[in-house]
Amino acid sequence: MRIRHYIASDAPALAALYARSVRGVGPRDYSPEQVGAWVSLAPTAEQMHRRCVDGRSVVVAVDEEDGPIGFCDIERDGHIGYLYCSPDAVGTGVARALYEAVEEIARQAGLPRIHVEASEAAKRFFAGRGFVVVTRRDLMIGDVPIHNFAMEKRLER
Ligand SMILES: CC(C)(COP(=O)(O)OP(=O)(O)OC[C@H]1O[C@@H](n2cnc3c(N)ncnc32)[C@H](O)[C@@H]1OP(=O)(O)O)[C@@H](O)C(=O)NCCC(=O)NCCS
Repeated sequence: MRIRHYIASDAPALAALYARSVRGVGPRDYSPEQVGAWVSLAPTAEQMHRRCVDGRSVVVAVDEEDGPIGFCDIERDGHIGYLYCSPDAVGTGVARALYEAVEEIARQAGLPRIHVEASEAAKRFFAGRGFVVVTRRDLMIGDVPIHNFAMEKRLER
């Protein structure tokens, strides 16, 4: 496994990975209706590409064939948008390597904090990386209620 920056040809694989990750990992913490609602938010390849080149930094974990197995993005204000791993990669340290790469980007930029809206799985993950919960967020995706957690980590300067 290797971490590298996003390239345009990753877009279809990342869009597919988003949906595969939600379908594979989401059911551990969310109902079938909630997983379906979450999958409905998956971007198309074109939407994924536009997002990845809008000024944010996007790091991609790839296998030996340069195939994406996870990805994470961070915006200029320290907001993490996506962190998604292939179900096979969960619990193997792939997300940790991705997170360490974006934290380094934030530190290099001199940002005071990193923040995220974390799913249940991501909440456990980010808590292990020194994040604290700011608030629980109860949302609706269409007519399906779902929740996540606003979390943040202050970076000492
Ligand atoms: C959120 C998500 C990316 C977190 O992934 P994860 O599997 O917990 O993260 P990792 O693969 O880095 O695994 C971390 C654990 O694996 C363990 N691990 C196993 N082998 C390891 C290795 N070789 N190197 C490092 N860690 C290893 C670590 O001990 C670590 O445990 P810890 O957090 O208690 O320290 C993943 O659950 C996911 O893709 N979820 C679905 C999508 C989602 O919810 N995204 C977030 C939207 S906000």
